[in-house]
Amino acid sequence: MLHQYALPPTLPPTTIPILQRAQSRIQAHLTTLTGYPHHQHARGSHPSYPDRALVPDEDVSWLHTPATPYTPTDFTHSVVRDNDCTRKPGGWADPMECASVDMTQRESYVYGDSPIVCDALQFYPFNPAGRTGIRGRGLLGKWGPNHAADPIVTRYDPARPTVLQMVAIQRDDTGHWAIPGGMVDYNETVSVTLRREFQEEATKTGMNPALLDKLFAVTNGRVVYRGYVDDPRNTDNAWMETCAVHFHCDTELGQQLALEAGYDAVAVQWIDIVKGGEAFEGLYATHRGMVWEGVRGMVR
Ligand code: BGC
Repeated sequence: MLHQYALPPTLPPTTIPILQRAQSRIQAHLTTLTGYPHHQHARGSHPSYPDRALVPDEDVSWLHTPATPYTPTDFTHSVVRDNDCTRKPGGWADPMECASVDMTQRESYVYGDSPIVCDALQFYPFNPAGRTGIRGRGLLGKWGPNHAADPIVTRYDPARPTVLQMVAIQRDDTGHWAIPGGMVDYNETVSVTLRREFQEEATKTGMNPALLDKLFAVTNGRVVYRGYVDDPRNTDNAWMETCAVHFHCDTELGQQLALEAGYDAVAVQWIDIVKGGEAFEGLYATHRGMVWEGVRGMVR
């Protein structure tokens, strides 16, 4: 069966320049966000994942052949298998057989206008950031790019007006503080996801719609990042990409937002955007860099 990866990955030669371009774009982004060109969380641990094969920095790139054969762990979580949209009505995951998915129809912020590079024989997509030590999809539903949207909501602390703060939620899977973002649902636009996720995660009983209208007014949002996320769920064949948009609250709105943890967040709070701040420094995946690059001009 094809999804058992009988063969080592085969890069079609014509796709090498495409992969090279995507890889350089990611390396530039990651260097800005983390000070380091290679993905790290995507080679690290996750509470629901088996151990990954070890991938040293020099073996990350698909364009380099490791000295010892690369044998990634094969892992697709049962929740992904159970949500196969071709078997389950309302399922959010692709089928196990990636050859049945038309990757030419998928958009990737990283591959841009170029086609997503796929294996020549078995058709599974290549994570453009390189090897992760796991093949399959792990916890991610889609082969290739999985899209999230991240609302970075800021204010100056009413009690300490020089301190810039952001709304952060505590994730229920890893326990990290994070931007209250989430997955872009099928056929949903990023702007709809931003508002929906904020409402679902940072407010329990639903926030006054007039406040949300004010917060998420088109004129109030500024895209601060669009691209690859170094996420601990990424695999060789499925990865996270996000669009992060900054929304700033004026003094009145900043005081009016009543935060209350929603359904998949353990807690929600305003955290200080300050270098060295415990919650800020420990933000999930590449969120710290995304926030800092996006708003540092406003830090007083
Ligand atoms: C989160 C987003 C995050 C994305 C990539 C999603 O699960 O909700 O905030 O940017 O994963 O890490």
